[in-house]
Amino acid sequence: MTASQTAAVAPHEVTREAGRRRTFAVISHPDAGKSTLTEALALHAKVLTSAGAVHGKGGRRGVTSDWLEMEQARGISITSAALQFGYGDTVINLLDTPGHSDFSEDTYRVLSAVDSAVMLLDAAKGLEPQTLKLFDVCRHRGIPVITFINKWDRPGRDALDLCDELSERINLQAMPLTWPVGEAGHFRGALDVRTGGMVRYQRTAGGATVAPETHLDAEQASTEEGAGWEQAREESELLISSGGEFDIERFSDATATPVLFGAAVLNFGVRQLLDLLVELAPRPNRRLDAGGAPRELDSPFSAFVFKVQTGMDRSHRDQIAFARVCSGRFERGMTVTNATTGRPFATKYVQQVFGQQRSTLDVAYPGDVIGLVNATALRVGDTLYLDRPPVRFPGLPSFAPSHFAVVRPRDLGRAKQFRKGVDQLASEGVVQVLRSDRRGDATPVFAVVGPMQFDVATHRLDVEFGVPVTLDRLQYSVVRRLVEPAHRSLIDSSGRGEVLTRTDGAELALFTDEVALGVITRQHPELGVEHLVAGTD
Ligand code: G4P
Repeated sequence: MTASQTAAVAPHEVTREAGRRRTFAVISHPDAGKSTLTEALALHAKVLTSAGAVHGKGGRRGVTSDWLEMEQARGISITSAALQFGYGDTVINLLDTPGHSDFSEDTYRVLSAVDSAVMLLDAAKGLEPQTLKLFDVCRHRGIPVITFINKWDRPGRDALDLCDELSERINLQAMPLTWPVGEAGHFRGALDVRTGGMVRYQRTAGGATVAPETHLDAEQASTEEGAGWEQAREESELLISSGGEFDIERFSDATATPVLFGAAVLNFGVRQLLDLLVELAPRPNRRLDAGGAPRELDSPFSAFVFKVQTGMDRSHRDQIAFARVCSGRFERGMTVTNATTGRPFATKYVQQVFGQQRSTLDVAYPGDVIGLVNATALRVGDTLYLDRPPVRFPGLPSFAPSHFAVVRPRDLGRAKQFRKGVDQLASEGVVQVLRSDRRGDATPVFAVVGPMQFDVATHRLDVEFGVPVTLDRLQYSVVRRLVEPAHRSLIDSSGRGEVLTRTDGAELALFTDEVALGVITRQHPELGVEHLVAGTD
C-alpha cells in the first residue's frame, strides 16, 4: 500500500469512526464476575446467542483467552485478548486483563491501551486488594472509571456503605446513576437516578438470555414496590445531596465515578452499563507521542504494541502482536515502519481475535486493536506508523520485580534452543531477563513481579522450545536502578547484593532486603541508585 492510497481516506471518516469506538477494560479482583460480565455484555450486544460461550469456567467450553494448557488447569486467565462487538451504532472494544495479581505488569500494559475502565466490585466484598492495585494504575494514568457493583442478587453489604468505601479508601466520589430497589439478596430492579423512574428486572432461565425490563414511573414504583422503593429513593438522594451529583467533568478527570448496581449472572443492569459506556465513556482521543506532542486522530496510521502473545493457535505456534490503533485508518496489506528499528513491517496477516475464532481484519480505526500475526520482529512498546514524519509513542514501563531466579537448561546440549526461548520470553515481557559477566551469559536470571510468572516461563520453555529448565531462587527481594555505573563494584563486592543488566540495557542492583541496602548506603553515601517505581520505571 502506498502513501497516495492512504491519502484518499477522508479525514472526517477517521474522526467519525473513532467517535463510534469505546475501548475499555474491566478491572476487578478474581471472582468478582469479570468473565460473567464480559459474557453478559457480549450477549446484550447479540454477539453470542446465549451467555457462556465466551469464557469458560466450571466445564463451559470456549474461552477468549485461555489458550495455554496451564491456564486451563489453573482456571485463571493469564493472557490478554480483545473482544470487539457492535452495540447499536457503537463499536465496543473490550480488552481482557489477566485476573491474577502476579500478572499486574501485563495488566498495566493493557490499561495503557484503553480509554476508560469498568471497576467491578462484588457487593458482598467491596474493594479488594487486586481491585485497589488496578485502580491505582487507572488513577496514575488518569483513566476515567465507571463502577459496577455486582452480585446484588445475593446477600451483601449496604449500598451506601459500599459507596462510602470508595470515597474513604480511594478518595473517589461515588455518583450513583442507578440505585438498587430491594436490599442485596432481594434485587427487584433499579431506580434510574436521571429519569426518577424504576427499571424492574425479570429473571430468565440460567441468565442465558437478556433479562426483560419493565419501566415504571416514580408513582407506580412507589405503589408497587412500597418500602423498597422509598428506601432506594432516600438513600440515593442522601448520597447525591452529599456530593454525589453526577458531573461529567469529575468523571473525565477521574476524581469521581458513576456507580451502577447489577447482577451480571442474571444480566441485570448490564444494558444500563452498555448505554452508559456509549453515552459517557471517552472516545479515542489524540495520543501524546514520546516528545509530548499530540498525534491527531486523522494523521496517517499509527499504533503501538501493548501485548505480544505466542501460542494462541495450537495447530500453528505463532506469535501475535496486539497493537492499539492511535491514528488514521489501518488497512490490511499496508507496509508500516517500526519506529524502534526503523524497519518496514508488512501487515499482510492481520486478525481480530474473538474467543477461539479469528477473522481476518481488513480495516481498523483509532481505538481498535489489531492482532499482527507472525510478528516476531515486534516487541511490547513498539510504535508502528505509516508515512512521514515518524512518530514514536512513549514506551511501556516495566515493573520493579521482587522475585529472582537463576535459570539453567537441564540438558546442556540444548543451549541454543534455551537462548532462543529466553530471548522470546524477554521480548514478550513474560519475565524480565537479567545477565552479568560474573554469572555468565548462559545462566540468565529471571526477574518477576509475581512468582506465577516463573511457572508460565518454565512451562513455555519446556512445551514450546523443548527445553526443561531448573530454577534456583535467589534470596533477593529489593531492586534499585544503578545510575552510576562506576558504583557497580561497590555493590558486587559488598556480599549483600549484585548488579545485573536487563535486556533493555538497564543496570539493576539487587539486594537481599532493605536492611542490606541500608547498610551499603550508610557505608557509601555516594552510592548512585534510584527506585524503580511501579508504573514509572
Ligand atoms: P472472574 O472472571 O472475575 O474471576 O469471575 P467469574 O465471572 O468467573 O465469576 C465468579 C463466580 O461468581 C462464578 O461462580 C459466577 O457465576 C459468580 N457470579 C458472577 N456474577 C454474579 C452475579 O451477578 N450474581 C451471583 N450470584 N453470582 C455471580 P462460580 O460458582 O465460581 O462459577 P460458575 O460455576 O457459576 O460458573
